[in-house]
Order: sequence, then C-alpha cells, then structure tokens
Amino acid sequence: MRAMVYHGPGRKAWEEVPDPEITDDSDAIVRVDAVTICGTDLHILKGDVPAVTPGRILGHEAVGTVDEVGDGVRTVCPGDRVLVSCISACGTCQFCHEGRYRQCLGGGGWILGHKIDGTQADYVRVPFADNSAYVLPEQMPSEEALMLADILPTSYEVGVLNGGVRPGDVVVVVGAGPIGLSAITGARLFSPSHIVAVDLADTRLEAAKQFGADVTVNSAKEDPLAVVKALTGGLGADVTIEAVGVPATFEQTVALVRPGGHVANIGVHGAPATLHLEEQWIRDITITTGLVDTYSTARLLRLVATRQVDARPFITHHFGLDEFPRAYDVFANAADTGALKVVLSR
Ligand SMILES: NC(=O)c1ccc[n+]([C@@H]2O[C@H](COP(=O)([O-])OP(=O)(O)OC[C@H]3O[C@@H](n4cnc5c(N)ncnc54)[C@H](O)[C@@H]3O)[C@@H](O)[C@H]2O)c1
Ligand SMILES: [Zn+2]
Ligand SMILES: [Zn+2]
Repeated sequence: MRAMVYHGPGRKAWEEVPDPEITDDSDAIVRVDAVTICGTDLHILKGDVPAVTPGRILGHEAVGTVDEVGDGVRTVCPGDRVLVSCISACGTCQFCHEGRYRQCLGGGGWILGHKIDGTQADYVRVPFADNSAYVLPEQMPSEEALMLADILPTSYEVGVLNGGVRPGDVVVVVGAGPIGLSAITGARLFSPSHIVAVDLADTRLEAAKQFGADVTVNSAKEDPLAVVKALTGGLGADVTIEAVGVPATFEQTVALVRPGGHVANIGVHGAPATLHLEEQWIRDITITTGLVDTYSTARLLRLVATRQVDARPFITHHFGLDEFPRAYDVFANAADTGALKVVLSR
C-alpha cells in the first residue's frame, strides 16, 4: 500500500510500504476512505515531538471501512463505516475507567501516527477497535464525520468544558486555526455574551468571524488586552483559550483572564512559557491543560448529525490520497491558501 512516511525533521514521503496486519485480537484493519492533516503533524515535521521516529506513518484522523477484525473484536464488523479517533483506549485500565483515555495505561492514548503507524495511508491497523472506532450513522457524510476524529472533541473538551464556559461569559480564543475555530463553535453552544478571536493572520480572523466570533483582534496591529478590558469594564475575560502552542500566546491568555477566571490551554508546546506567579498568586485563576480524551465523541456525533454543530465550514480543500505532498503544502501555508482542514479521499 501507499502511506505518508516521516523521515526525520522536515522530511516526509508518500511511498510504498507493507500492508498492516492484525497483531492483537482487539485490532481492526480499516481501509482509509477520508483522512486529514493536523497542526500537530506540522509540529512533528518540525521535530517538536521526538517520540515520533523516522519510518513512522503519520496521521491520527480518518474515516474508513473495516476490512478485517481480530478474534476479540465484538462491536465493529467488516464492511462497517467507522470514525477512527485520534485517541485509542484499552477500556480496562484505571484511567480508561475514569474516562481519561488520553492517559490510558494499557497501550492506548494518542498512539496513531505517534507511537504506532497512523492513518495517512491506504490502510491502518486500529488497536482496541471496540473502544477506538465509532460506527457512523448511514446518513452522515464521511468528511463531516472526519472533523470528529480530533478538532471538535479536542476544542470542546480541552477548551470549552475544561474552561467551564457559561452563559453570558466573555470568551477569548487565542489562535484561529482549526482548533481555535472549533473552540469558537463549541463555546457558542453555551451562549457566551462575546467571543473574541485573536490571531496574527487576517485570513484566519475572517474565518473566525464566519464561525461566530463577535470581535476579532490582529495582535500584530492591535493590543488584545486593551480590547478585552474595554469589553469587560477593565476586568478581563471569564475564560481564555490558548490554541496556538507558543510561549507568547500562553502568557497572553493568562494576562487576558479576569480574577477568578479560567485559562484553558489546548496548544501543544515545544518550549517553556513563563507563568508570572508573582502577579497571579492573588488572582484566583484556574489553568487547565490536557490532550483530548474523546469522551465527548458520541455527543458531538449527535450535534453534527442535527447540525447544531456544523462541521462543513471547516473543510476548505479536497484532494485525492495520491496528492498528499501537495495537501501538506497547502495546509502548511494556511495564511496564504486560507486552508482550514484539507480532506484527502479515495
Ligand atoms: N491538546 C490537544 O489535544 C491538541 C489536539 C490537536 C491540536 N492541538 C494543538 O492546538 C494548536 C492549534 O492547532 P491548529 O491545527 O489549529 O494549528 P494551526 O497551526 O492551523 O493554527 C494556529 C493559529 O495560530 C496563529 N498564531 C501563530 N502565532 C500566533 C501568535 N503569536 N498570536 C496569535 N495567533 C498566532 C496562526 O496564525 C494560526 O492561525 C497546535 O499547537 C496543535 O498542536 C492540541
Ligand atoms: Zn491532531
Ligand atoms: Zn486504558
């Protein structure tokens, strides 16, 4: 089969590799029908995620058709159309019992395209298939379902729910990439009074407006602190969500939150950030971090099916599977191409 293989920082190739095989009786082999690229894949290609070693097939998001299952698989069958989630779960360890699948002790967590071969391929081996693949309702288009493999649950769980967004809140989302935009989408479910989007790229801020941001701030040209203070009587935002993954934006989300407010970090960070505890110790703030667990996937599937969450505007570009190198270029140059999520399908 063909696959997108990582060959060390800055190097990748769409090339011929052996087909995956069932190695455990909880595995399924899934034929990939639709697949996408994540900001985290770009971090990997920068060398920010050293656990990904050369030779690894990239990708942790897919919709596909089950081709074969191991003897222990009970709930998915050959021929089923499934969502392959970015998080795998053994289902039996202490953390899986708590719904903290990202911390799975039994060999799950974020493994696809990280510790084992991923979804950017013709076929993928999905471990713990009963807990890690979701059979899709017949009427749901594959590319809409694909938005549930990572961005929608990530922003909903790690941004909106961890941040505790409540009706009437002023919510600031720093970073208006697919993750920030899906945080805006998720926050709107809770009727905030204002959503403020902060980014450096006007194309992304334009998208933020379309996704429902009430105020946009290009932080290269305007000071977000002045805008947020003006909006909140000088107090700061109730909830700030970090969706970039660099020290400056984490520090900004802390500066923008009101006393008693909540900072929810989603970004993957490759460098230390400064926490000004000498200023923050007295401000009663809560800071949360985390990788997505995907405990909300079934709920989000219903919200997408009823269009209370519209997954369609995230999809800006379509490619064939053979066009992976071009799709990466378009996604990596989002400020120029306007790319949000690129979908590659057969
Ligand atoms: N925690 C998790 O489970 C999880 C899951 C998926 C992605 N992520 C992370 O979320 C982050 C966002 O992902 P994405 O796919 O949207 O990435 P992306 O690269 O498409 O978007 C990032 C956005 O941040 C903007 N930006 C860059 N520097 C900025 C600055 N100094 N100030 C304001 N805006 C700035 C960019 O213009 C861009 O619009 C990444 O760090 C990604 O690795 C985390
Ligand atoms: Zn991802
Ligand atoms: Zn587990």
